[in-house]
Amino acid sequence: MAPLRICFLASEVAPFAKTGGLADVAQALPAHLAERGHDVRVFMPLYSVIDTEKHELKPVDFLQGVQVRLGSYVFAFSVFVGRAPGSEADVYFIHCPQLYHRDGVYTGEWDEHLRFALLTRGTLECCQRMGWSPDVFHCNDWHTALLPLYLETIYDWDDLFARSKTVLTIHNIAYQGVFPAEVIDNLGLAEHRHLLFQEDLKQGAVSFMKSGVLYADVVTTVSRTYAREIQTEAFGMGLEALLRERSGSVLGIVNGVDYSQWSPENDSLIPHNYGIDDVAEGKAKNKAHLLAEANLQAVSTEDVLAEDVLAEDSAPVIGIVSRLTSQKGFELTYEALPEALRYLDVRAVILGSGEGGIEDHFHWLQRTFPQKVSFYNGYNNELAHLIEAGSDIFLMPSRFEPCGLNQMYSLKYGTVPIVRQTGGLADTVELFDPATGTGTGFVFEHYDATGFAWALKTALETYSDRPTWEKLRANGMKKDFSWQRQGAEYEDLYARLVG
Ligand code: ADP
Ligand code: GLC
Repeated sequence: MAPLRICFLASEVAPFAKTGGLADVAQALPAHLAERGHDVRVFMPLYSVIDTEKHELKPVDFLQGVQVRLGSYVFAFSVFVGRAPGSEADVYFIHCPQLYHRDGVYTGEWDEHLRFALLTRGTLECCQRMGWSPDVFHCNDWHTALLPLYLETIYDWDDLFARSKTVLTIHNIAYQGVFPAEVIDNLGLAEHRHLLFQEDLKQGAVSFMKSGVLYADVVTTVSRTYAREIQTEAFGMGLEALLRERSGSVLGIVNGVDYSQWSPENDSLIPHNYGIDDVAEGKAKNKAHLLAEANLQAVSTEDVLAEDVLAEDSAPVIGIVSRLTSQKGFELTYEALPEALRYLDVRAVILGSGEGGIEDHFHWLQRTFPQKVSFYNGYNNELAHLIEAGSDIFLMPSRFEPCGLNQMYSLKYGTVPIVRQTGGLADTVELFDPATGTGTGFVFEHYDATGFAWALKTALETYSDRPTWEKLRANGMKKDFSWQRQGAEYEDLYARLVG
């Protein structure tokens, strides 16, 4: 297809700033599109956590001291540019210390709306100064969801954008960017109040995400199942009616995986690389390393082969890498996991941070089973990779999951996922059927502890049946969720939009 100009906006992009899967997607999809020959430019804030020297970011000389008026505020910003390793997509960083020099990527502070309104307006201002006319603006989540409305209002005079189309991808509908209606003036939208969602205004609120859903040419989300789910009351979080009204323009595209980062064959962060042909040995070595790293009881001596390599049938290791929020469903594990740890020879390595109650539970689990459980409470990319490589079973019992990346990473690393049948988990993991030898993981349907307990028990039983486990593991490793496959759906979408 003819190369397109694609302007991609995101609040987080790996490896510069990351809190979750959005950053992985915002790194890998633009990189893939650039590799396909498109002119892709990514825009994100220059948070204080981003080290400009380490990432070799350079100031853009014609984008210095750019001013943007947001109601009664005038912000001045400058721009840096750089690239993620191995990527040909330019990433432009909006440098406005007043707004972005904070402790984290996101804040609960009073001016959160301004931080992301500036990212959105700043992107448009940069395009103007570059004289660059995007065929497609690809917005992600609430942070940049005002862009379609800005194009129809503040920037409607500019011919540069006359033919631009807009896509809004919803990565997580739980975060909508809802603010008190008073902020409208300082979003620069005072004269355009009538275009905002009127029922919210009556309630004294304004929602970034809703205006994105109203004005984007197409709304996508990150799996087919989630695209259906968010049109229902159970998952739509108040946006279901609006999404149903636009259902002809709502589309699910399952995320891809960047296998240059997340595959055991070339993962530079794990001690032993392996592939499908030497998975048994590779996993055993990484497992020994993981257990040592996590300070867990190795395993009984008869399980240790020469060179400290664990035997294949040694105690199974259960891995978790996650934001610890109610979305992720870990409450379902609160009975079955301790029970398995009490009665069986299993280990658990847990990495994550988030809500206090969930962290407290995992701290308790570690105190109760100090030789069997290790909880790393924080963020650690290297450990995330080692857990994928060194675990046997990976837990994602999510209440809802727009796509989920870790289950796809797990499949490639031969780490069998236990997932609930929702969103992207339902689209990417198939229930294993021992009779036919098909399927890639353990999938339970209802959001209840019994479902999870069944899945865990079945997984542990299957683990001790080596030939069956090997078949299951190999099925997962053969799956291909690369962007080379999934990315085509975005290209088709852009091509249809641009016409
Ligand atoms: P979500 O975006 O909802 O958090 P995903 O499965 O899409 O879920 O993506 C999560 C990403 O964040 C994965 O790359 C995962 O490895 C990473 N991640 C989550 N928590 C941590 C953590 N504590 N330390 C390191 N990486 C983490
Ligand atoms: C969100 C979702 C997750 C998805 C990620 C990337 O954070 O919670 O399911 O994989 O975005 O799209």
